[in-house]
Order: sequence, then structure tokens, then C-alpha cells
Amino acid sequence: MILIDGKKIAAEIKREIAVEVKNIIENGGKRPHLAAILVGHDGGSETYVDYKIKDCEEVGFTSSLVRYEDNVAEEELLAKIQELNNNDDIDGFIVQLPLPKHISEQKVIETIDPKKDVDGFHPVNVGRMVIGLPSFISATPFGIVELIKRYNIETSGKNCVILGRSNIVGRPMSVLMSQKSINATVTVVHSQTKNMEEICRNADILIAAIGVPEFVKGNMVKEGAVLIDVGTTRVPSAETKSGFKLKGDVLFSEVAHKCSYISPVPGGVGPMTRVALLNNTLLSAKKTIYC
Ligand code: GUN
Repeated sequence: MILIDGKKIAAEIKREIAVEVKNIIENGGKRPHLAAILVGHDGGSETYVDYKIKDCEEVGFTSSLVRYEDNVAEEELLAKIQELNNNDDIDGFIVQLPLPKHISEQKVIETIDPKKDVDGFHPVNVGRMVIGLPSFISATPFGIVELIKRYNIETSGKNCVILGRSNIVGRPMSVLMSQKSINATVTVVHSQTKNMEEICRNADILIAAIGVPEFVKGNMVKEGAVLIDVGTTRVPSAETKSGFKLKGDVLFSEVAHKCSYISPVPGGVGPMTRVALLNNTLLSAKKTIYC
């Protein structure tokens, strides 16, 4: 069994991005610039945005943070998004989610210029991804595909079963895994699926993104399967300083020894999601997706 080391691969990708930035600057180009909009003071969101800014520094990007109190009017936020859309110095930006209830997240997402939508949430980017056009791919799907590629995991003709059909993981993963560059045969399993265990046992590649801790048990996994665990449920723990720990969707103790490859939680898919944003910002700065 090979443990998929997301931390190591994420560090590798960051080093590659830093080298590209250095080359751009040495050739007289502009430093890639990522901006983030943060509304309110939610602890989790503050931490995520801090990480994003630190990641930018690490690879040599410029970063900007725009902050609003949580009573900001939707109109004011949308006007700021338009301003960032029109600011030629900014290559890409994100609006950290969730937003306060009086602001429509969908309206916010659809106001972002798809060319600067480095989160890959805009329907134009999702639609382009579905029909195989260059697009910004959202963080988790990017992270999973990159792990599969960098571990040279065979995908062509393999049965890939995806547990979960969310818009941010299961659904886009099902599209990416069936594309010609990956060539897997894909089944999406969800709450109304019959014979779920049997379908999972037929998977060469099982991607668990159901959000239920330790849902995938030993009897759901075939010998030699590749297992990608996307679960990140916070559960209380007396063992950690923070008072909680992350649990994956896979019962690791029953499943790991049956697998050819397995991504652990933490340290598997999680670290890869952070580099997706850096990768998309670099692609945007290089005008790779939209010429
Ligand atoms: N909140 C949690 N994850 C994300 C993300 O990937 N992007 C944004 N914008 N907000 C988030």
C-alpha cells in the first residue's frame, strides 16, 4: 500500500510555481497578483484567507485583501467585484465563502469576471470544464486530479466510483474522470443509490466525498483499489490542542491494507486544495485559459 502524500506534492507544486514566477520577473513580466475579499470575522474564513495570503508570499505573488464588516450591503460588495474585474493589475480574485445571509452567493459568483474567477465557481468555468475547454478548475477536483497524475496512477479504462454528487467535488470529479485525458468509466453514487456497497466493491478507483466520517468500511473496497478520501469532518478530540481533529470519509484501519494507494486525512487531498488557487492565478497571469 502506498500512502499518497499530499503535503509533499503540494510543496513540490509550490516550488514549481515559484520558479515560474522568478522566470516571469527576470524576463520583465508582471508579478502575478491575487486578491481576496473577506466579509465579516468568521474564524474559519479568517484562517483560510491568512493561508491564502501566506501561500502567495511563498511563491512570489502579490496579494491584496479587501475586508468588509458583515453588515456590508450586497450592492457595495458587487460594486467592489466590478472594480476588481476592471483592475488590470489583478490577475484573479476570490470572495471567501460563506457570506452573510443577506448577500446572494450565486449573484456574487456570477458577478466575478470568469477570466478572473480563480476559484473556478462561475458557471462559465464550470460549463467550459464540462465540455473540455480550458477553464479554471476548482480547488478539490484540481487537487485530486493532480495527485492521480503525479503518482502515475493508471486511470484509462478503470472503474471509478464517486461517492457524493456535490457541486464542488462529486459532480466536477465525475466529469474530469471521464474526460479523454483520464478515460475512466465513472459511476456516481448518492443517497438514493441501490446496492451502494456492491458498486463500491467494483471500483478500481474510489473517491469518497460524502461528508460522513468513516462511511467507507473494509467490505466496500476491493483488494488493490485506489482510494481518495475527500472527507474533512471536524470531530471533538481530547488529543489535540485545538480540541478537534479531522476525520475522513474512510475507516482507514479497515480499508488501508486492502488498497494499492490511499490518501490519508489529514495530509492527503487537503494540502492540495490550497495550491489550486496559486495554480489558477498563475494560469490567469499567463493568459493560458482565456487568451
Ligand atoms: N470557503 C471554503 N472553501 C472556499 C473556497 O475554496 N473558496 C472560497 N471563495 N470560499 C471558500
